[in-house]
Amino acid sequence: MTLYGGAMELSEALRTTGSVREFTAQPVDDALLFDVLDEARFAPSGGNRQAWRVVVVKDTTQRRAIGEAYLDAWHDYVAHLLAGVIPFSPLASDEDRAAAQGQRAAALARSRPDGFAETLSEVPVMLVVCVDLGVLAATDRDLDRYHFAGGASIYPFVWNILLAARGRGLGGVMTTMAIRKEPLLSELLGLPANYAVASVVALGYPQRRNTNLTRRAVSEFTTLDTFEGAAFSA
Ligand SMILES: Cc1cc2nc3c(=O)[nH]c(=O)nc-3n(C[C@H](O)[C@H](O)[C@H](O)COP(=O)(O)O)c2cc1C
Repeated sequence: MTLYGGAMELSEALRTTGSVREFTAQPVDDALLFDVLDEARFAPSGGNRQAWRVVVVKDTTQRRAIGEAYLDAWHDYVAHLLAGVIPFSPLASDEDRAAAQGQRAAALARSRPDGFAETLSEVPVMLVVCVDLGVLAATDRDLDRYHFAGGASIYPFVWNILLAARGRGLGGVMTTMAIRKEPLLSELLGLPANYAVASVVALGYPQRRNTNLTRRAVSEFTTLDTFEGAAFSA
């Protein structure tokens, strides 16, 4: 893929940019990372508010603390899987939550020293993407259900970071696990009270790239006119 390619290259990037969680030891230049952020900043956001703020975490102590926060949440995630429930579903029942909690010890026992969660503090680049809740356009804020529209103003930026990184030979993954420990992260990074943590992003040169992504077909999630309408087809 060329850096400023045409339509073919864009299509290829959209179809083949998978998560990368294993990196070579090659460090990432600050100049390259700057270029990635400089390209990612053209992401859309509600009202063009651009509520993002990025902390590039280099300090070893900070990284370890973030890694520990991530790992703690990761054990919760695995516990949900072991319990057979969807991890962190906003619609989870009390029974689902209790079932996951019941698998916490089993999840801890499955920890591998060389896993991504266990070694997060060592990734070549660690970014914490934060968001100013005070300027976020959250159009669903008054609805009587779980609120998520605000995320639409921040995750396109995070995804742009990953696409811009891909264009420069890097790979990475956006993660949200550590948000479960947001108070700890906020204190650690000195975030003002109106800021939330949107993602911890890992970047680096990939050891390998999976370009054969598993995704549902359009006909499985697109219908005509109503939810139960006919499957949309070309
Ligand atoms: C909002 C969001 C949150 C995610 N959080 C995590 C995470 O905390 N940890 C992680 O390893 N991957 C995380 N991912 C990556 C997903 O696991 C990945 O996109 C998905 O499994 C598809 O895998 P693939 O890219 O290898 O095809 C996240 C992705 C998104 C979009």
